[in-house]
Amino acid sequence: MTDKPPNTGELNLLESSLNTISLEDTTIADEKVEEQSKWDIPRTERDDPFQFGQRFLDDEEAVWDHNAWDHVEWDEEQAQIAQEKIAAQRENPVNDFDKHLYMTNPARYWDLFYRNNKSNFFKDRKWLQLEFPSIYEHATQPDSGKKVILEVGCGAGNTMFPILNANKNPELKIIGVDFSHRAVELVRESPEFDGKVCDADMWDLADETGRLPAGLEENSVDFIILIFVFSALAPAQWDAAIMNIDRLLKPGGQVLFRDYGRYDMAQLRFKKGRLLDDSFYARGDGTRVYFFTEDELAGIFGKILKVERVGTDRRLLVNRKRKLKMYRVWLQAKFVKDSLK
Ligand SMILES: C[S@@+](CC[C@H](N)C(=O)[O-])C[C@H]1O[C@@H](n2cnc3c(N)ncnc32)[C@H](O)[C@@H]1O
Repeated sequence: MTDKPPNTGELNLLESSLNTISLEDTTIADEKVEEQSKWDIPRTERDDPFQFGQRFLDDEEAVWDHNAWDHVEWDEEQAQIAQEKIAAQRENPVNDFDKHLYMTNPARYWDLFYRNNKSNFFKDRKWLQLEFPSIYEHATQPDSGKKVILEVGCGAGNTMFPILNANKNPELKIIGVDFSHRAVELVRESPEFDGKVCDADMWDLADETGRLPAGLEENSVDFIILIFVFSALAPAQWDAAIMNIDRLLKPGGQVLFRDYGRYDMAQLRFKKGRLLDDSFYARGDGTRVYFFTEDELAGIFGKILKVERVGTDRRLLVNRKRKLKMYRVWLQAKFVKDSLK
């Protein structure tokens, strides 16, 4: 990937194309309600974070009785419709000119995103404690000792700050990095930012030059959090990203991952002219998104790290007022660096 800034002509074109996005285009803004609402459901019965809820839809007639159902499998007709949508997307990929723009300076589109949405877009990821208890058991306790948590693709800090707020460990360091300078500014300017515990800096997860985030050395990080960031990489960047992650992690260190799964609603509603590559798209706002399968994910990380768990969080979210059904698919995973490395 080249990271050179686009020339002025490209920028004008980019800005004007963003201002004229058709209403049909999917932008990351469409993700907001659907991604968040699922976590509003009380999940007291859960003890295994990878079980993803226990409300099963056994009687199709009852679908409008609740806002969300867990583990909803697709019937053959739905699977067929999904295949047809993907086939139609393949018939109409992104044109070469736009593809060049989306591939040459992806950070630029995130900068525009944060310029337009500021810090109020993503809600705090309150579910972290449920899904990734290891952070809270081993890093934020008063006696956890010296620990380093790195969030890559930290955005406006909606993952970092909930961890910071729960922290009781005087020796914890939480570092957020993002390749969007606007995201880093938002984190640094936040009233929640506490310079004694946190830091925020610019860094590209797929950096190919070997540069590590400022202040971090090889084998120095206990937890790397990747939440909806790996999907923003082009497949050709995956190997560089995994190498960087492996270099940063301490032996025995963990990667905590959550991101889009194949055939998630966000994938199926892409219309014409958005497909960049197989399962890889440019949203209407120019940000890129890939939709993973479990096997693919295990293959990508498993080249270097131990795949401890990969799970699919499959949910049917229901808008009862508008009688809308939304099938969401998210992948969650935990990878570990060999403690003998
Ligand atoms: C969907 S947002 C998620 C933000 C945050 N992790 C959260 O959960 O609220 C994806 C973030 O990843 C960042 N990003 C995308 N590609 C990146 C890369 N190659 N290196 C670093 N950050 C990246 C974007 O700038 C954006 O802030």
